[in-house]
Amino acid sequence: MKKAIFGGTFDPIHNGHMNIAYEALYKLKLDKIIFVPSGNPPHKDKRNVTDGRIRYDIVNAAINGEKYFEIDDYEIVRDEASYTYKTLEHFKKIESNTDWYFIVGADSLLEIEKWKNVKGLLKLCNLIVFNRPGYDIQDVKQQKKYIEKKYKTKIMFLNVPLVDISSTNIKKKILKGENIKYLIPNEVFHKILELKLYSRGCGEMVNETEIYQYIRGALKPKRYTHTLGVLETAENLCEIHGCDKYKTRIAALLHDCAKNMSNDELIKITKENNLIEIDEVIEHSPMLLHGFVGAYIAGEKFNITDVDIINSIKYHTTGRPNMSILEKIIYISDGIEPSRKFEGVEDIREVAIKDLDKALLMMYNQTIKYIISKNQLLYPKTIEARNYLLIK
Ligand SMILES: [Fe+2]
Ligand SMILES: [Fe+2]
Repeated sequence: MKKAIFGGTFDPIHNGHMNIAYEALYKLKLDKIIFVPSGNPPHKDKRNVTDGRIRYDIVNAAINGEKYFEIDDYEIVRDEASYTYKTLEHFKKIESNTDWYFIVGADSLLEIEKWKNVKGLLKLCNLIVFNRPGYDIQDVKQQKKYIEKKYKTKIMFLNVPLVDISSTNIKKKILKGENIKYLIPNEVFHKILELKLYSRGCGEMVNETEIYQYIRGALKPKRYTHTLGVLETAENLCEIHGCDKYKTRIAALLHDCAKNMSNDELIKITKENNLIEIDEVIEHSPMLLHGFVGAYIAGEKFNITDVDIINSIKYHTTGRPNMSILEKIIYISDGIEPSRKFEGVEDIREVAIKDLDKALLMMYNQTIKYIISKNQLLYPKTIEARNYLLIK
């Protein structure tokens, strides 16, 4: 039997890991890959790493149903950083007739002599090395030769397409409310949502007092009153149409948090953080950016990670096709809150109670008519959003 151990923190496991495991399995004709999540690191690093049991559960979810993948809690139950050679000793002891392999990244190969008892480790197994973005293949090959000669071992180089996905990046994306769905296995995505991992906005409730303090400081009195009006209207619509109350409150409170920024400030933040491409329409009407910048502030300042909250803030000015209920509620509430006074507002208020889509269409019509009356540019997404509602 030929089995490989794939060790790592797996915080969280992602498609890059899965891809490497598959490639190793098939290209090197292995019988099994055993995922061995590392134990919890000692003391001070502990706060940065998710608890071992949770990481174990997530890896377990990722490999669920995969016949040739297994998981082992050898390092997790020890609740400490384990030495790789000890882990290998353990497996060799259980299955002494198996040919053991250990999967490592090119970065680890380059530093392998810093590992504890590397000589013992290389007697227990052969290394399978995969390349990683940012590492020169020539350096890796040279090191491979050097280690093979010095330790009389055979290292296998796994030629996998370089997938630039890292756990660190995934965590950052979650914090910013960006989409990670296609970077991790589906089961992992659902586990992360279910356990509210890697995010403050989901895991811990955001402190609403902090948000009130912020918007009171950032908004002019009239805009602040408008925000409270949107909150009141959105909460009502949320009650009627069924939506998450907490998300509705946070989205309503923050929807205009960037509204009183200057055009220059909006453009600067948008450009610096690549929030959206500044096209000709936006160049003429930079205030269109306040939703995008507001969503950015919600993520950065308040660690809001919930994609629905973020999108509701992001698209509250422009709208977009196929909006979620929360997005619709925030968009409509923005237009019909008590301080809004335009002809026909009462009609939309009434319709909104019964039919969100109908009210949404009325709001789009109202907005488009208003923009035309001012001889301003129409934002294409708003037109797309209106067309979408009419066609569907
Ligand atoms: Fe707004
Ligand atoms: Fe608003």
